[in-house]
Amino acid sequence: MKKYLFITLIILLLLPSFAFAQSQGSPDKKAERLQWFADARLGIFIHWGIYAVNGIDESWSFFNGYISHEDYMKQLDGFKAKRYDPDYWAALIKESGAKYAVLTSKHHDGVALWPTKCNELHLKKDLIKPFMKALRNEGLKAGLYFSLLDWSHPDYPNFTRKEKRYEDDSLRWNNFMEFNFCQLNEILDRYNPDLWWFDGDWEQSAEKWDAPLIRETILLKNPDAIINSRLQGYGDYATPEQGLPIKSPEDEYWELCMTMNDSWGYQHNDLNYKSPNQVIRIFVDCISMGGNLLLDIGPKADGTIPDEQVNILQELGRWTNKHSEAIYGTSAGIPHDYFYGPTALSADKKTLYLFLDGNPNGPLMVKGLKNKIKRIWIVGNGTKLNYDIKMKQSWSSTPGILYIDVPEEVLDPQVTVISILLDGEIDLY
Ligand code: GLC
Repeated sequence: MKKYLFITLIILLLLPSFAFAQSQGSPDKKAERLQWFADARLGIFIHWGIYAVNGIDESWSFFNGYISHEDYMKQLDGFKAKRYDPDYWAALIKESGAKYAVLTSKHHDGVALWPTKCNELHLKKDLIKPFMKALRNEGLKAGLYFSLLDWSHPDYPNFTRKEKRYEDDSLRWNNFMEFNFCQLNEILDRYNPDLWWFDGDWEQSAEKWDAPLIRETILLKNPDAIINSRLQGYGDYATPEQGLPIKSPEDEYWELCMTMNDSWGYQHNDLNYKSPNQVIRIFVDCISMGGNLLLDIGPKADGTIPDEQVNILQELGRWTNKHSEAIYGTSAGIPHDYFYGPTALSADKKTLYLFLDGNPNGPLMVKGLKNKIKRIWIVGNGTKLNYDIKMKQSWSSTPGILYIDVPEEVLDPQVTVISILLDGEIDLY
């Protein structure tokens, strides 16, 4: 009898962890969880915080000693968010063609954008809640950025590049961890983000952050949540930053995060914006390598979004709206040996999309395609294109070269997209 009681007890104890492993452990479940993310292709990153007041580097400006911590914190008084319109933000993000957004709930400076009860360093108003609601009303996924490290917290070891609060003090570290979990749980309870974008993990090990427990806490509350990779190995997808990958990354899921100019937050002196054309072509490269683009905006301290940034989002919106079938739910294209440019494949692999950034001097050329072609047309415009196959020899298995005529009138001012419908799944020589 005792024996059975013991076994029952063991089962009861193991059940939650078993259920948890079931919920996220198997690769299939991960694929299911990440499906919306893989299909989304475009997200908008938002760095909004007190650093917009002076227009200086978020957190790094005091960490690197360009301004004292005290003076940095004076920006708290100037951060009024008087013209903050979360519904407009969400509508603009939707218009851009993005399917999700990620807002900085707390950067490395430790200033929470919500009235946290875990410490005193926060804004009075909850700036997060209305935005999460607005995103969800637009049918968009709502993500939050959270800095694991907190350079302002009295129990966090690092203060600035030159100054450390302590070297080794498990009591203080435990205090900090308690605080960190307090905020994490608050965010879970108040907003339950669809996506968690951690940052600042590099200063401590997975063990110190208790990364497995962070992951477990999130997924127990929301088994559908997605977690980025900056959790010392406990995330779901890779986050290359600023540098556009040259070749398809090895990771199955990835997202390039990128600024529009050279700053994450609003900096009035930084006018080094990429043109809409440059942004779209970088986006196209992400699509063709099977990844997402998380494009950053930095709203001003009053909550308005700078004109240059609105302009990029709107032009991106025109382009994504016109070419949606070649963007959402597609997968990485074919190697450049077959077509000298970015490409993508439809989910059923029966349509090949070619991205063309310019006016070709003659017909396009695709090599090594073994399929028969059913039809070729311009995406978002419908014009059927003439094509022809040259060099096909009856005695050779090498496919002929496909030439496609693209008349000048059908070119998009940014990037033209051509759709090739095949007789079956793509089959390359
Ligand atoms: C870096 C920086 C940070 C920025 C982030 C965005 O980790 O520390 O300032 O928010 O990249 O990817």
